[in-house]
Amino acid sequence: MQEKFIPTSILVTGGAGFIGSNFINHFMPGNPGCRVVNLDILTYAGNLKNLTGVEGNPDYRFVKGDICDGPLVEKLLAEERIEAVVHFAAESHVDRSITGPEIFVRTNVLGTQTLLEASRLHAQNTPEFRFLQVSTDEVYGSLGPEGYFTEETPLAPNSPYSASKAGADLLVRAYHETYQFPTLNTRCSNNYGPYHFPEKLIPLMIHNIMKRRPLPVYGDGLNVRDWLHVKDHSAAIERVLKLGKPGEIFNIGGNNEWKNIDIVNLVCDLLDQRLGRSPGENRGLITFVKDRAGHDRRYAIDASKLKRELGWEPAYTFEVGIAETIDWYLAHQEWVEEVVSGSYREYYERQYGER
Ligand code: NAD
Ligand code: TYD
Repeated sequence: MQEKFIPTSILVTGGAGFIGSNFINHFMPGNPGCRVVNLDILTYAGNLKNLTGVEGNPDYRFVKGDICDGPLVEKLLAEERIEAVVHFAAESHVDRSITGPEIFVRTNVLGTQTLLEASRLHAQNTPEFRFLQVSTDEVYGSLGPEGYFTEETPLAPNSPYSASKAGADLLVRAYHETYQFPTLNTRCSNNYGPYHFPEKLIPLMIHNIMKRRPLPVYGDGLNVRDWLHVKDHSAAIERVLKLGKPGEIFNIGGNNEWKNIDIVNLVCDLLDQRLGRSPGENRGLITFVKDRAGHDRRYAIDASKLKRELGWEPAYTFEVGIAETIDWYLAHQEWVEEVVSGSYREYYERQYGER
């Protein structure tokens, strides 16, 4: 890969969450000497245990703080001579956005605007700068049985979560158009892999199977999601940061569509084998429950622009990625127990009953 932009100091927001921590764990070994400052407020979804691999690295610094805190962001940008912001920090769970949308607007919209404004002012005294907004295919809304989201698909978000991400993406666009501020915007499909919080479909199913708890499948289970390994997403973000032309949007996806019920069945079967249960035993835990309000039917990403222009392709096959992910959860039960206790516990028990 011929790199055009090689930052020496980056600010990663939300680096203690699922994708942000995987990104830092991926980026630091491949970019020795690049300073990585991780700004994260540590909500229920943030966990510093995700980052033990980089903790002692002198190029790494963690700062507990809020992306909505303008003076803090300004100070960090200046004192660390930041040349790029990779912005992951967000409220990320659709179900939570349905019961409590306000925090989604605060973090995802106001937080992004705060980062944009501080970065824009800081970039005026920085020879080269990039602001990379990590977004989601959910901003495009829902597909019927055919077709794919391209970068030209109009934004039509349906949940408070996706609406707040679309709002942030539009601010990113406006900063580029109005101020010629060098932004990049990625929109990725559903991720899976290690450190995924067990409120999202795949890790929730693994966790509930381990506990022999019901596996709640929403509606008819025929909604479709397009799954990509989080390490492939991390590699794509690095590539867009270094090679993407400012002002551009890049879709990221692995061409890997699954109906929810098929993925739940697959996870059940793989865990039957690993837990020494009889074939079909875990499938017996599947419980169809009331559908999610405004549930998007199908997501599917056309990532051909990223392949054509920047040469990115996923490295993982789903077969290998899902097996590895299940094995990671089996080997990291302590991590799971820790994240489902604490502030998350109350929410989990409300949803799924006592543990
Ligand atoms: P996550 O919920 O696991 O992590 C979010 C992180 O942001 C947490 O560490 C949290 O503490 C931090 N955070 C929240 N509010 C903050 C604030 N005010 N200030 C500082 N830090 C704050 O989320 P994720 O799944 O890792 O998603 C990361 C990003 O990727 C999000 O922007 C999300 O929209 C996007 N995305 C996620 C997926 C997916 O499948 N999970 C797919 C595409 C895009
Ligand atoms: P989720 O992991 O929450 O991601 P997103 O809503 O951002 O796509 O959900 C993935 C799919 O799985 C979605 O169609 C909703 C469905 N789902 C269930 O059927 N049961 C569950 O318990 C959860 C959390 C999700």
